[in-house]
Amino acid sequence: MAKVPSGVGPSHPQVVVLFGATGDLARRKLLPGLYHLATSGFIPDCRVIGVSLDDIDADGFRRLARQSLGDFSSRSTDDADWAAFAQRLDYVSLSAGPQALKAAVDAAEASFDTESRRLHYLSVPPSAALSAVRMLAEARLVERSRIVMEKPFGTDLASAVELNARLHQVFAEDQIFRIDHFLGKEPAQNILAFRFANGLFEPIWNRNFIDHVQIDVPETLGLAQRATFYEQTGAYRDMVVTHLFQILAFMAMEPPTALEPQPISEEKNKVFRSMLPIQPGDVVRGQYSGYRDEPGVDVQSETETFIALKCFIDNWRWAGVPFFLRTGKKLAEGQRIISIAFREPPKSMFPPGSGVGAQGPDHLTFDLADASKMSLSFYGKRPGPGMRLDKLSLQFAMHDTGLAGEVLEAYERLILDAMRGDHTLFNTAEGIERLWQVSVPLLEAPPPVRLYAPGSWGPKSVHQLIAPHAWRLPFERSWRSPNSTGN
Ligand code: BG6
Repeated sequence: MAKVPSGVGPSHPQVVVLFGATGDLARRKLLPGLYHLATSGFIPDCRVIGVSLDDIDADGFRRLARQSLGDFSSRSTDDADWAAFAQRLDYVSLSAGPQALKAAVDAAEASFDTESRRLHYLSVPPSAALSAVRMLAEARLVERSRIVMEKPFGTDLASAVELNARLHQVFAEDQIFRIDHFLGKEPAQNILAFRFANGLFEPIWNRNFIDHVQIDVPETLGLAQRATFYEQTGAYRDMVVTHLFQILAFMAMEPPTALEPQPISEEKNKVFRSMLPIQPGDVVRGQYSGYRDEPGVDVQSETETFIALKCFIDNWRWAGVPFFLRTGKKLAEGQRIISIAFREPPKSMFPPGSGVGAQGPDHLTFDLADASKMSLSFYGKRPGPGMRLDKLSLQFAMHDTGLAGEVLEAYERLILDAMRGDHTLFNTAEGIERLWQVSVPLLEAPPPVRLYAPGSWGPKSVHQLIAPHAWRLPFERSWRSPNSTGN
């Protein structure tokens, strides 16, 4: 068992009430994550009470949890650890009502010999969030508790405002944790370190030196078992208004006065306040061919499985710099990159045909894959007579440092932070409402979805959106592997 540094986890045992306990996210991430946290010494003790519409009992839930670990955990499951964890699982079906839930929580709390805390995790679609909050209020489970709200938080401005208002009738703001798991990813936090722990980059981090920015998160994944959720959600609500805008805020924000929740939220919210509303003419919506034949999908569905857009942050640092965002399902590659294109030199003295500028502008690229990678590309002289230029790059991969080690997965990190009451990597009501507000023009008049072939890079018009620039992906040159000698 890995030694857990002190202060990383909560000091009280935890009762986790997991709504949506049999759903896709619970099986893929939350149950394996809770198992890891509970069995690796991060939490003093815990009980997990699954809640969902499914009519199963505690043993049925244990079987589902065991299966989830087998199917989705990135680590191996020790039999003795599993047996101990299984004893900590219980289940209450939604139809059993608030009193049954209260009884299960009471029993869990009675099993600890010290005072405990409650973590309510709402892994449910926006349409089900309020009824779960009501059930918690009726079961009188608000005291000594924190509540984690999954994204998307609402489906538009009105529903997000209402959700925040109703939530505040039951929970105080400091009990609420609006999660975005991209912010729990190591490389996302590394953007903050890269920008603010170094003096080198901040002076050029603005419109005078940066030409445009791309945040590109194509996925090869399809719908898996999530058709019902996805049909109501689509790529914009599922990925952009949440993950991609959050990454954009880390990339674009001013230095916070401290690395603490309030200063960080203030700076992120200032970015969101400066964002210009998203114009439908700056958006390409796509749907992969065959989506409408998927089980659970409307045969006339207009839900987008792909979205690319251009947006602007209208402040002194970024005015006029386009930010291009793209994400979608069933695309050619799974990648998560931020690419920053620098302005070209004002004048070139290199002879025609030298190759200068031929391979696009200089770029700084962050790969947000599980271990951070970064690359800075630039033109350099090709060895030999004359003056021929090639695009070269400096590359860094966290893996090469030997520091990557056993990192916590994004959800694990954020669950632990919520248990400790640390809001640093969570979203505020104001930030989320503002993001829905900038989405109004797009949500009111979405452009029609265009079909694209599964395995492609989306509809063709995605190239017009970014012209005269070009999408960085697919990369012309792949990342260097540690021992290669290529460019
Ligand atoms: C989730 C979305 O929030 O993020 C999924 O609902 C998406 O549709 C996933 O596939 C991507 O996250 P990750 O961590 O797998 O890149």
